[in-house]
Amino acid sequence: MCGIIGVTGAADALDILLDGLERLEYRGYDSAGVALVSPAGVDRVRIADGTHSVASLRGATEVLNGRSRSGVGHTRWATHGHPTEHNAHPHLDCSGRVALVHNGIIENHAELASRLTATGHILASDTDTEVLAHLIEEGLAAGDDLIAAVRSTLVEVRGAFALGVMSVDDPDLIVATRRISPLIVGLTDTASYLASDIPALLDRTRDLIALEDDQIAELRPGSVMVTDAQGAPATATVLRIDWDIDAAQKGGFKDFMSKEMADQPAAVRDTLRGRMGDDGMIALDQLDLSDDDLRLLTKVIVVACGSSFHAGLVAKYAFERWARIPVEVDIASEFRYRDPVLDATALVIGVSQSGETVDTLQAMRHARDDGARVVVVSNVVDSSMAREADGVLYTRAGPEIGVAATKTVLAQIAALELLALRLAQVRGEMTGEQVAVEFAELIRLESVLAETLGRAGDVAAVAAQLAHATDFFFLGRHAGFPTALEGALKLKEISYLHAEGYPGGELKHGPLAVIEPGCVVVAVATGGPLREKMLSNVSEVKSRGATVVLVLEDGDDEGAAVADYTFWVPASRDLQSPIKDIVPLQQFAYALAVGRGLDVDRPRNLAKTVTVE
Ligand code: F6R
Repeated sequence: MCGIIGVTGAADALDILLDGLERLEYRGYDSAGVALVSPAGVDRVRIADGTHSVASLRGATEVLNGRSRSGVGHTRWATHGHPTEHNAHPHLDCSGRVALVHNGIIENHAELASRLTATGHILASDTDTEVLAHLIEEGLAAGDDLIAAVRSTLVEVRGAFALGVMSVDDPDLIVATRRISPLIVGLTDTASYLASDIPALLDRTRDLIALEDDQIAELRPGSVMVTDAQGAPATATVLRIDWDIDAAQKGGFKDFMSKEMADQPAAVRDTLRGRMGDDGMIALDQLDLSDDDLRLLTKVIVVACGSSFHAGLVAKYAFERWARIPVEVDIASEFRYRDPVLDATALVIGVSQSGETVDTLQAMRHARDDGARVVVVSNVVDSSMAREADGVLYTRAGPEIGVAATKTVLAQIAALELLALRLAQVRGEMTGEQVAVEFAELIRLESVLAETLGRAGDVAAVAAQLAHATDFFFLGRHAGFPTALEGALKLKEISYLHAEGYPGGELKHGPLAVIEPGCVVVAVATGGPLREKMLSNVSEVKSRGATVVLVLEDGDDEGAAVADYTFWVPASRDLQSPIKDIVPLQQFAYALAVGRGLDVDRPRNLAKTVTVE
């Protein structure tokens, strides 16, 4: 997830770009850049300064004030290539006459890059984006105008993109287009704008067009023309937006947590994007483990904290069933103190959204010092863990600002399941067809998640009924167990209510003693192998007077008969099930916390990244 902005026809173009980038920082902030375009050429400034990138860019571009009335800008959240200045956008072609900004992922960038370099292009970055500038350069060299060159480039690329493209040969023109990644065009009588999202433009115009997939917009000062992929005029409806800027920054949501929950289908989709090769093999290019390395492994150990630990627990079921390899999952802060038995045949996987959690980092260092192979699943490119590990598997959830992890957890599970499938393939534990079935189910989750998110109102209605409860138990079995742990953690963190997560079968070994009328038991009873046993465990608590809420798959009337309340979710295969079953538990925690008037984005006593032991 990155943020892009563009303007043509404004005397204060540079300010517009910088103000817009500030408002888009929530989409990424590891580097930022602008290019002002005039007949004299492209003035480009890029800065990689972490969270200060846009502020530093403002200082570094003062000299460019008034240099041009048109330009594009970008704030980056790295997915391909380190978060360095040379990978920051805008990117240029070989001649330096084409400048472009991009949000998305170009899946076939590697093959396009080798074709371009073989024909003499010099690629100056390690990004997936830069190939686009060179493909457009080829179109221009063949006599196309900028719009035709962009159109022919789109035919060649696979993946997701929102693009703003400019050329010195027609400096008043910005060509904007999108596929999957969002792009908004704004209009006034004298200027035209583009941005990834509405907040970047709201102080300049409230007349906006949301471009549709594969539409191409030709932005000139005071006019916008929209065509379809074939060049035929397309209908573009101008929307009048009356949000205030603060709401717009959160995409119209009240807080970042609800925005980030809504981002979950895209987070999972983007994490899977381009990771199934044309040969049917799961492709994890930065993992840096050869097929022989994977075959020689004798065990997998996942180390992580908090919600990332829960993602690791879900993954254990996938690694063991699919790849038939023993898995241990350890709380990172305990791992190195238990003197783990490690050698080069052990794969230690750190799971960390931030890639900075010190307990996980130290656990990975310990494993590396003991000779294990170490990889990390991280959402932050070039985080400390990503730099130190032998290999990396990035989740592509975009920045997560709410302290409670939501979209990154679902993306972690998806990423770990990809790794489990890869291991199963290489070790000959699954056939191509079996892997294809499981992968297709992961892909299907985008729409399953969208449907599940649409049921938030039903969950909130249950939360309203239970608003006075103070003791919550979350139960699950099999992959539903880590789902239950995650539900309990979410509730604790943001609502400050007492919540415990247990495996359903463990209740009778102690916890049943505290169950009494007034306790709420939320149990995950979706279609895993232990669903029936889970329902019996639920009957045990119900007969002790607890109020029972069940997470059930659509149509499970037998389960509903046991429940006082139900959270319905669409059916899915059991190992992918936690990715969608966690959602109503997030929604439940959210509704209870909001009902108690709490700030869900900044829960008391907690920090987003924990860098102390
Ligand atoms: C829970 C939460 C924390 C983190 C934990 C690990 O909502 O956010 O439990 O999951 O602090 O953080 P990372 O994944 O950054 O290592």
